[in-house]
Amino acid sequence: EKEKTFAMIKPDGLSGNYTDEIKNAILESGFIILREMTVRLDEDTAGKFYAEHSSRSFFPALVKYMTSGPVLVMVLEKVNAVADWRALIGPTDAQKAKVTHPHSIRAMCGQDLEKNCVHGSDSPQSAEREISFFFEEFSSGAVGSKH
Ligand code: CMP
Repeated sequence: EKEKTFAMIKPDGLSGNYTDEIKNAILESGFIILREMTVRLDEDTAGKFYAEHSSRSFFPALVKYMTSGPVLVMVLEKVNAVADWRALIGPTDAQKAKVTHPHSIRAMCGQDLEKNCVHGSDSPQSAEREISFFFEEFSSGAVGSKH
């Protein structure tokens, strides 16, 4: 059964010119990129996307980081997409990823616990929320959906 997940290349990934390398890793791992869109997040949108972290001490810095430049948002599809994309990107802390998961995407393009260059949904429920957050054609009840 095919599954969809949500992926994002964060501002440091785009400004560091890692887009092609990241997309190659995505395609080599058997994902299909169903949708992609470059967007510039404002504070309100970044805050809403990361609402679950709004009470954390790192939240203001996270919003500042995520609004510091454009991001590339994608819908990926394959069997077991949610877990497989999380495995491919590696641990949240890119510094640790370089040691424990040297072939992961975050080891390749991330810097530390905050600037980790990519995002991946942590569950099928998050994937559904995050996909429909950016791609209205995937929100339930969408009229004229091609899916
Ligand atoms: P992400 O997996 O997209 O989800 C939340 C983001 O907050 C995380 O990646 C990092 O970019 C950022 N972040 C900053 N500090 C922390 C922290 N202490 N724990 C988790 N995430 C953090």
